Amino acid sequence: MKAKIKVTVVENTMIAGGVYRIKFLLPAEGCPDNIRPGQFVGVYVPDASRLLPRPISINFWEPDERILTLVYRVSGEGTSLLSKVKTGESLSVIGILGNGYPMEELLKKNVLLAGGGIGAPPLLELAKQLRAGGSDSRITAVLGYRTDDLFLVDEFRQYADVIIATDDGTAGFKGNVIEAAKAAGGTYDVICSCGPMPMLRGVKAYAAELGIPAYISLEERMACGVGVCLGCVCKTVHRDAHSLVNNARVCTEGPVFPAEEVDI
Ligand SMILES: Cc1cc2nc3c(=O)[nH]c(=O)nc-3n(C[C@H](O)[C@H](O)[C@H](O)COP(=O)(O)OP(=O)(O)OC[C@H]3O[C@@H](n4cnc5c(N)ncnc54)[C@H](O)[C@@H]3O)c2cc1C
Ligand code: FES
Repeated sequence: MKAKIKVTVVENTMIAGGVYRIKFLLPAEGCPDNIRPGQFVGVYVPDASRLLPRPISINFWEPDERILTLVYRVSGEGTSLLSKVKTGESLSVIGILGNGYPMEELLKKNVLLAGGGIGAPPLLELAKQLRAGGSDSRITAVLGYRTDDLFLVDEFRQYADVIIATDDGTAGFKGNVIEAAKAAGGTYDVICSCGPMPMLRGVKAYAAELGIPAYISLEERMACGVGVCLGCVCKTVHRDAHSLVNNARVCTEGPVFPAEEVDI
C-alpha cells in the first residue's frame, strides 16, 4: 500500500521514559502480507495543521492478526501528539515505505544486530524473521541505551543473544554499542545496524576492520516519504544512472544501505 489509509489503534502505551509502543490493525485490502524488516510507515499526526507524515520504522508485524507495531520516542510536537492517541481511535498512515534489510543476504548467517537507542526497534522484526528463516544461525543483538531505562530487551531475547550497553554503566556494559561488541569478541558474517549517525560510522569502520559487510539504516529528515520531494537525499559512492549525481533518496532507495555504498 502507498495510499493514505485509516487504521484503528489497538494500543498506545509508554514502555520507557518518553518511548511509546503503538499497535494498529492494518486492513487486508491494498496492504502487503510480507513486510521487510527496516521498512517504515509515514504516520499522520492528529492535527490538521501538520501535513507531513512522520516516518516510523516497523518494529513488529503479526500477519495473521494484521497488527503492526511501531515504537517511537517523543522528540517534537508531532510525536507528542501521537503519544496522546487513545485505543480505539483512528489514525492515517502511508506505507509500507522504503527498502528494508536484504533478507536473502542474511538468512542462515551469523548476524550482529547493532541497535542504538530508538534505532533498536526495527531490528526486532529483523531478529524475528532471521530466526524464522534459519534456526541454526547465531543472532547477537547489542543494544545501546543512555541509562538503565531499557526497552524491548525481553522481546529481543526471544530471538537473539542480547548484550546491553549503557552510556552511564547503570546496566550491562559501560560504553557504546561498538565497544560492547568488541569486548564480547564474537565472530560474525554480517552486521545490521540502526541508530544515531556516530554509531553508524562506528559500525561501518568495525565492519571494515572485520572484513565483513554491514547494512545500515539512515534516519534522514523526510517530507513526502515517497521519493518525490528529494528532501531526504544522502551521498553515495555510486552515480545514479538517472540523475547523474552521487545521491540516493533515503525514503525509497533506503533507508537501509550497504555501509560501503554511502558516504556518512
Ligand atoms: C526511515 C526512518 C525511520 C524512523 N523510525 C523511527 C522509529 O522507529 N522510532 C522513532 O522514535 N523515530 C523514528 N524516526 C525518527 C522520527 O521520524 C522523528 O523522530 C519524528 O519524525 C519527529 O517528529 P516530530 O513531529 O515529533 O518532531 P519535529 O521535530 O517537530 O518534526 C518536524 C519535521 O521533521 C521531520 N523529522 C524530525 N526528526 C526527524 C528524523 N529524525 N528523521 C526524519 N524526519 C524527522 C518530521 O517528519 C517532521 O516533518 C525515523 C526516521 C526515519 C527517517
Ligand atoms: S522524503 Fe521526499 S524524496 Fe524522500
